[in-house]
Amino acid sequence: MTAHKTPRIQASDITPRELFYDRRRFMQLAASASLTALLPNAVLAGEPLVNVKKSTDNLRDELTPYKDVTSYNNFYEFGTGKEDPAQNAGSLKTRPWTITLEGEVNKPKTFDIDELLKLAPLEERIYHLRCVEAWSMVIPWIGFPLAELIKHVDPNSKAKFVEFISLHHPEQMSGQKSSVLNWPYREGLRLDEAMHPLTLLTVGLYGEVLPNQNGAPIRIVIPWKYGFKSAKSIVKIRLVEKQPISSWMEAGPNEYGFYANVNPEVDHPRWSQAKERRLGDFLKRPTLPFNGYGEQVAQLYAGIDLSKNF
Ligand code: MTE
Repeated sequence: MTAHKTPRIQASDITPRELFYDRRRFMQLAASASLTALLPNAVLAGEPLVNVKKSTDNLRDELTPYKDVTSYNNFYEFGTGKEDPAQNAGSLKTRPWTITLEGEVNKPKTFDIDELLKLAPLEERIYHLRCVEAWSMVIPWIGFPLAELIKHVDPNSKAKFVEFISLHHPEQMSGQKSSVLNWPYREGLRLDEAMHPLTLLTVGLYGEVLPNQNGAPIRIVIPWKYGFKSAKSIVKIRLVEKQPISSWMEAGPNEYGFYANVNPEVDHPRWSQAKERRLGDFLKRPTLPFNGYGEQVAQLYAGIDLSKNF
C-alpha cells in the first residue's frame, strides 16, 4: 500500500472544531431523513469538509466528542488517573521542541517542531481513526505518515526496528517523580510497521493543535494496536537493529507484548479483550481484529502466530 500524495494544505484550511460538530449534526439529520443512501461515499466516510483528500475511517463510525477525547486520557507522566493528564499537563512546555531521528540511518537529523510542520511533503492531513484500549474512541487526527519522516533520514540496511522515546523532564512532568514506569516512556515498532501509511505522526486533533494531555506537540498513532503503543510527546526516534524493549514490556513482561495488535481472541492476563466501551456509550461493543484495519495491515503478520506474539 502506498501513501497518497495530496496537495499541500495551509493551516487555515483545516476544518475548525465547530464545523466538525456542524457536520455531525448534518449527518444525524441526514440519517434521520433516510437520506444516507443518497449521499456520496466521500461524505459518509467522514471526509472532512475542507480540502482534505483522505479519510481512513473505514467503518464510518461517529466521531467521539472533543470533550471526551481530551478529558479521559492515559499519560502517566502526569499521573495514573484518567482525569490527571487534563488537570496536570499544563506544566508541559511544547516550545522550543526538537525531535531527533538517529541510529541506523545515513542522514541523522534533528528537526525543530516548527520546521517539521513546514517540510515539503509533510502537509497537514486529517485521518479519522479508531483507537482502542479498554475504552475506544474515533478521533479526527491531523498528521502525516511517519514513513515520510523516516525517508528523510535514509535508513541503512541494519535498520529493522524503530524506537520512540518520549520527553524526560520531571520538573514539567510531575508523574515522573514516581517510578510507576521506567522513564522516559519508550515504545517500538518493526520497521515495516513504522513505514505503514496508517502509522501516523500527529500534531493535532479536531482541527486544533494537539492538547498537552493528548501528547503535544507530537505523538505517534498506530490505529490497529492497543493505545499504549502510541507514544506521546516524542523527542527521539531511533532506528535500531534489535527489537527494542518498551516501558510496558519492562513493567509487565507477561502482560504487554511487543506487537500489541488489537486482538479480541487474546486476553490480557487480568481481563478479557473481547469487548471495548466506546467513550460516550453505555454498552460495550465487540472488539474487531486489528481494530477493524485488518484489510490494510493483516499482511504484515502473515505466518506469525499472533496468539503467541501478542
Ligand atoms: N505516552 C507517554 N509518553 N506516556 C504514557 O503514559 N500512555 C499510553 C499512550 N501513550 C502514554 C503514552 C496509553 S496507555 C494510551 S491508552 C494512550 O497513550 C492514550 O492516549 P489518549 O490519552 O490520547 O487517548
